[in-house]
Amino acid sequence: MTQLAGVQSWFHGGMFLLVWAAVLHQSFASVAPLPSDPGRPERGTYSIKTSNGTVCLLAQMGLQLNISYSSVSQNKTVHDVMNIQPNITNSTGLCGGDSATLVITGGGDKLNLTFLFALNVTSLKYHLGGLFLSAEKPDMKEPFAAHNNNLDYLRGTLGRSYMCREEQTLNVDPSLTINTFQLQVQPFGATGDDFGEAEECQLDEDDMLIPIIVGAALAGLVLIVLMAYLIGRKRSHAGYQTI
Ligand SMILES: *[C@@H]1O[C@H](CO)[C@@H](O)[C@H](O)[C@H]1NC(C)=O
Ligand SMILES: *[C@@H]1O[C@H](CO)[C@@H](O)[C@H](O)[C@H]1NC(C)=O
Ligand SMILES: *[C@@H]1O[C@H](CO)[C@@H](O)[C@H](O)[C@H]1NC(C)=O
Repeated sequence: MTQLAGVQSWFHGGMFLLVWAAVLHQSFASVAPLPSDPGRPERGTYSIKTSNGTVCLLAQMGLQLNISYSSVSQNKTVHDVMNIQPNITNSTGLCGGDSATLVITGGGDKLNLTFLFALNVTSLKYHLGGLFLSAEKPDMKEPFAAHNNNLDYLRGTLGRSYMCREEQTLNVDPSLTINTFQLQVQPFGATGDDFGEAEECQLDEDDMLIPIIVGAALAGLVLIVLMAYLIGRKRSHAGYQTI
């Protein structure tokens, strides 16, 4: 009888945990795509080689451009979100002592997306200092062009790579933002096809905290249920002895 009660309270505790975990999971996983959302961009690999053929700049990322332009058909400014498709683009560029460029061209809309990286040779820190985009679509009143040479994104250390698994938004100018997905870059000191040790972005570190907190909370609950069960068992034992 008391055995059964113990099992029952265990069962209830377990059910509660399961329901709670399910609710938590739902609240983190329910992100419905918008109608005009082109979905997650495919992750591409882009590399630049030195004249003797070894890779000196290496990047892997999914790229999504968010541009606004004057539409001919709608006679107003429209927002266009488009994914860069790695299989129909080319990458060129230059590796320099204190600057490096990665130029991604091709795609359907005469894209030219240029990344300008800078290395501070004193502190041995690099960052993405400039971005340039040009594109042409039939519906554009005039060809699109935007650039900014005062950026400070993707900060890393020479010899290491910069990594951001989470979606990150690079604000270039009022008409252009770029969303990056699963990004890893090494603009300086790459030596071949593998990245150096990765330095993770703050977004990823924040993201790691959620499972840690949830895990700790679940462990705490398991402990409480276990203790409640053990105490309950002890009590019912004591109850028998007094008889
Ligand atoms: C694109 O940019 C507009 C305006 O800045 C913004 O409202 C919208 O949320 C952006 N969309 C995406 C998918 O980034
Ligand atoms: C792309 O744009 C950059 C920056 O304006 C320019 O230097 C480069 O020549 C362009 N490349 C192509 C292939 O259009
Ligand atoms: C390079 O880093 C040093 C040391 O942190 C700093 O004093 C200097 O201003 C930086 N140079 C540039 C061009 O940012």
